[in-house]
Amino acid sequence: MDLGLEDKVVVITGGASNIGRAISLAFGGEGATVIIADMDEKKANEVVDKIKAKKTNAIEVKTDITDRDNVQKTMKKVVDEFGKIDALINNVGWVSDQLFMKEDSKKWERMININLKGNIYCTRAALEYMIRQNSGCIVSISSDAGKIGEYREAVYSACKAGTIAFMKSIAKEVGRYGIRANAVCPGLVVPRTEEEVGGESMWRGGMKKLFTPEIIEKAKKAYPLRKLTKADDVARAVLFLASERCAGDVTGQSLSVDGGYAMV
Ligand SMILES: NC(=O)c1ccc[n+]([C@@H]2O[C@H](COP(=O)([O-])OP(=O)(O)OC[C@H]3O[C@@H](n4cnc5c(N)ncnc54)[C@H](O)[C@@H]3O)[C@@H](O)[C@H]2O)c1
Repeated sequence: MDLGLEDKVVVITGGASNIGRAISLAFGGEGATVIIADMDEKKANEVVDKIKAKKTNAIEVKTDITDRDNVQKTMKKVVDEFGKIDALINNVGWVSDQLFMKEDSKKWERMININLKGNIYCTRAALEYMIRQNSGCIVSISSDAGKIGEYREAVYSACKAGTIAFMKSIAKEVGRYGIRANAVCPGLVVPRTEEEVGGESMWRGGMKKLFTPEIIEKAKKAYPLRKLTKADDVARAVLFLASERCAGDVTGQSLSVDGGYAMV
């Protein structure tokens, strides 16, 4: 099916690793112009090269989403170069796995900055242009943790719930300009190969060690479909929401792509 994404200009934050990488490649596969806004230039360039090999346009713009000036410069660069922003995919996220009462407050700050503030900065900066265009679409990658709360992820869960509510409020405020805003809540997506993992990925640290083959087998049993989510499953849901043709009447929603893990 033609999703009508060819010639769309799509900014994907954190598009160099795991889920973001799959989203970048998926938009590239649809013929969209892909802008990877990531801190990890090396890995972002690898993804850009893969997209360009299919004759689709892609660039990386080194961006720290927790730096508002930096984010504004990135969005301006995109519009200066490509004339518009059709879609923003707020994908960057970071979680520290620890009981709330044992968690260092520096980690709370980091989670709030990356998962919530960064998303707010990117959305604000992109809307500046989308409102002028009278069109656009935002998809934020939240988490089921934001719907049901997760053990050892208290602050992360709070941020992800915030992301869902933020998208709903934005949807109400900017729907009049033809702009849609939705969230996607993935289930557990463990990267399968080294190639899929960026240098700044949370899967480089303690997260990788947590998910041993035994733990993964155990985790699958918590999912009605008895399997873990793949990055490509999430990417396809994002394509659906970004497609005006498919989801032109869908806004303010949070779509779980999680094998039925959280039925809210
Ligand atoms: N992987 C999962 O199991 C899972 C489950 C539910 C939700 N999520 C959410 O999905 C999203 C992607 O997760 P992932 O596993 O692909 O993450 P990841 O850690 O593998 O990738 C994150 C990417 O963001 C980049 N990044 C980190 N901080 C940045 C910053 N300040 N500015 C710009 N770029 C930055 C990294 O370089 C990396 O490329 C996150 O929002 C995460 O919370 C993931």
